[in-house]
Amino acid sequence: MTKKIPIIFDTDPGIDDAAALTVLLSNKQFDVRLITTVAGNVSVDKTTANALKLTHFFNRRDVPVAQGAKKPLVKAFKDASNIHGVNGMPGYQFEATNQKPLSLNAVEAIRKTLTESTDKITIVAVGAFTNLAKLIQQYPESLEKIDRVVVMGGSIAGGNMTSVAEFNVYTDPDAAKILFDSGLDITMIGLNVTQKALLTNESMNVLSHMNETGNMLTQLFSFYGDGNLANGKPMHDVNTLFFLLAPNKYVLNDYWIDVVTDGPAIGATVADIQSFDHQSTNIHVATDVDSEAFNAWYLLEIAKITDTAVNAGKVEK
Ligand code: RIB
Ligand code: CA
Repeated sequence: MTKKIPIIFDTDPGIDDAAALTVLLSNKQFDVRLITTVAGNVSVDKTTANALKLTHFFNRRDVPVAQGAKKPLVKAFKDASNIHGVNGMPGYQFEATNQKPLSLNAVEAIRKTLTESTDKITIVAVGAFTNLAKLIQQYPESLEKIDRVVVMGGSIAGGNMTSVAEFNVYTDPDAAKILFDSGLDITMIGLNVTQKALLTNESMNVLSHMNETGNMLTQLFSFYGDGNLANGKPMHDVNTLFFLLAPNKYVLNDYWIDVVTDGPAIGATVADIQSFDHQSTNIHVATDVDSEAFNAWYLLEIAKITDTAVNAGKVEK
């Protein structure tokens, strides 16, 4: 029996976040200690409500949710509701839940979870890195309990907000710089990989007839403004979990990554691939992924979720 992976998951659900939370909350290989939310795809009130909809949907009220930053450290906040819809998870009316977030904010909750843990914890961050930057600044002594950090963010081959900047880093570049310069063991899974691991239209068709979870996901995907039906849709955040479960399906290269925090290239993650300016490296950068394996794995993951395990809602007309 492989050892469970203790995880704190920082997220801004968000449709691809929901696709990732589905695996996080269903796959028993993950020992989910805490979910924290951040402003990103939509406001932090909405990302928090969405996280609670999903812990309820998957009968995981045992997993605490703590609300995090409502805006970036310095930059003005601008959401991605054009991609993820006004509420962040459109197309499916989740069953109402009376579950509330913790009274602690995300940074305090992460610190408490780390401090009280007997083992080191993997942190997965798939929204702006504001909460993690605040933890690094406010509670540096807690960092020793972090085993590694796996992020969806950045890119070494073009952006989705500008020609060079990816949304999570672009939203809060100052936080990304603090995280990337922290000395933590960081793996960056950026657009150069996540825009290759598309969930194909064929896979989405299979999901839609599979079970209630597949129905819920495909209803969300039908409103997802990223990608297209011809080529498939990028499940950016899901890659962090597939990487943890099947690292051999990814290629990693160690580079020094600088984060640009101002000017026209703000939010760019610049990889010193030729080691021109740095003789050391700070980030394990994903440079390739087995896209077919990603699709096959995701379908198997969803197929394992029985309808009796979920609190079904209904399709929003
Ligand atoms: O650029 C893609 C990332 O930005 C994903 O995490 C998506 O959910 C948005 O947060
Ligand atoms: Ca996200």
